[in-house]
Amino acid sequence: MSTSQDYIDNNKDRFIDELFELLRIPSVSTDSEKKGDIRKAADFLLNQFNSLNLNRTKLFETGGNPIVYAEHCPHDDKPTVLVYGHYDVQPSDPDELWDSPAFEPVIKDGDVYARGASDDKGQSYTHIKAIESFVKTGQEIPVNVKFILEGEEEIGSPNLVPFIEAHKEMLKCDMVLISDTAMFGKDMPSITYGLRGLAYMEVEVVGPNRDLHSGVYGGAVENPVNVLCEMIAKLKDEDGVIQIPGFYDKVIPLTEADRSASAALPFDEEAYKKSLDINAVHGEKGYTTLERASARPTLDVNGIWGGYIGEGAKTVLPSKANAKISMRLVPDQHPKEIAKLFSDYFNSLAPNTVKVTVNEHHGGHAAVTDLSFYGLKAAAKAFEDVYKKEPLFAREGGSIPIVADFKKVLGVESILMGFGLTSDAIHSPNEKFSLKDFHRGIKTSARFMELLAEMK
Ligand code: BES
Ligand code: MN
Ligand code: MN
Repeated sequence: MSTSQDYIDNNKDRFIDELFELLRIPSVSTDSEKKGDIRKAADFLLNQFNSLNLNRTKLFETGGNPIVYAEHCPHDDKPTVLVYGHYDVQPSDPDELWDSPAFEPVIKDGDVYARGASDDKGQSYTHIKAIESFVKTGQEIPVNVKFILEGEEEIGSPNLVPFIEAHKEMLKCDMVLISDTAMFGKDMPSITYGLRGLAYMEVEVVGPNRDLHSGVYGGAVENPVNVLCEMIAKLKDEDGVIQIPGFYDKVIPLTEADRSASAALPFDEEAYKKSLDINAVHGEKGYTTLERASARPTLDVNGIWGGYIGEGAKTVLPSKANAKISMRLVPDQHPKEIAKLFSDYFNSLAPNTVKVTVNEHHGGHAAVTDLSFYGLKAAAKAFEDVYKKEPLFAREGGSIPIVADFKKVLGVESILMGFGLTSDAIHSPNEKFSLKDFHRGIKTSARFMELLAEMK
């Protein structure tokens, strides 16, 4: 075993203590009152880079939260890896559903429970500790590395694309390395090679100018909640096919090779149903559960409200109804075009008894990594060396929109080396991350850099 791998084994517990320090900072990007904590998290990371003597360490100010940058690029003849991650986290609410406070990390059965444990503080911290394992053992870092850690991923990275466009030279690299995805299952190391895109809409349906007595007016005046439900029901047919005209026009169909690769993955549908307490799965006809959840586009209502939802029975005909509706996209669907198609179709469904408005939130493009990219071979071998198993290659349904922008702006592929699990409850109460995978993640990252250096 190499000196770096030994160092990682010998410093296992201290790495956990340090991660806990980071997890105690409630760096919630959706909450404007948490600006101080956002800065605290950014400073924590900057200090880490400074203590490793990396170069050009800096907090770049943006219109929003700072971007943490650091690099070490002494080699002319080795590849340059740009490590991307995010130090912002989702809000912790509903707090009452957490078994222990979200920002007071605790260990239970080998997992650390805290908001951001998996998404993405614990996962992205692995790469910083991998770098440490070279620096603190007096070794040269085997490849050139650059770090870009942002604080706005969970709010759609509004300042990141302008930043990478403005700093193309500084960010020049041969590949991006990201740990912000999940493994296919426990002890199943995986490389994610596809992510979905996103278009996110908010709609409002307005009827009468005020809430009305449902006995006095009911039957004679349109009910916006009823209308909204009818409109939503027309967005998909009974086969789960999205009815928005043009929605599928730019979808690249799955090839036979895609489908057999997906079918060969060790997916256990019974266990999947059991873990969710559902009797049956549901989705677009003609596709498997895995395909539906990763490689096909979808449409889901994320939230719906309107009318009386308090205690007891208040007889009311509501004045308006609202919903948040998102669509996960696949190559080559364009989020702006899809938002426009949605908007046109949704408006066309409205009866003349109501007024409808449709607004668009942030979105992003899907991305698929070229499987012949040489960096994936080093990543696969690194997983194999550490986990003693060949990694699986799978597409995932979540979104990291910046991956498509890295490809477009910097012209590079991203290696999605996830150490999380689908069961980590990211964005939910009781988010967790396996400490064993935190440890193996650090080792895999360090091993990846060693192997990559040998390749070129
Ligand atoms: N890390 C996730 C994305 C993810 C999760 C990818 C699981 C693959 C598997 C990321 O932090 C996230 O939450 N992304 C958002 C989109 C973003 C634009 C807010 C998402 O997927 O909903
Ligand atoms: Mn994430
Ligand atoms: Mn997230």
